[in-house]
Amino acid sequence: MPVIIFIHADDRSQRIDASAGDSVMQVATTHGVDQIVAECGGNAMCATCHVYVDENWTARLAPMGEEEDELLHGVAAERLSNSRLSCQIRITPELDGLVVRLPDRQI
Ligand code: FES
Repeated sequence: MPVIIFIHADDRSQRIDASAGDSVMQVATTHGVDQIVAECGGNAMCATCHVYVDENWTARLAPMGEEEDELLHGVAAERLSNSRLSCQIRITPELDGLVVRLPDRQI
C-alpha cells in the first residue's frame, strides 16, 4: 500500500496509507488533511488542491496537462516550479513514499 507523506505549512508531517488509483487529493480529503480544500471535488476546476511536490519526486509524476497548467496560474499561494494540483496526481505503487508540501492557503 503506497504511503503518501503530507508536510503541513507548519512543518508537521502526516503519513497516510493510500490506495493505488486514488488521487492525492482524495487521500488528503478522506484523512482530514484540511489544507486541501478541493472545492470542485477533483474536476480540475477550482485549483484549491494545490501542493508542492518534493523535488525528489517531481520527475516521477506523470506530466501535467494543459488544463492543470492553466489552473495553476490561479492558485492562491505562490506557484513554484514544483506546484501541482493534487487531484491530478494519480497514485501508483511506484509513488510509495511520495512527499508533498501543503501551501499556507488555498483561497
Ligand atoms: S479539486 Fe478542484 S482542481 Fe483539484
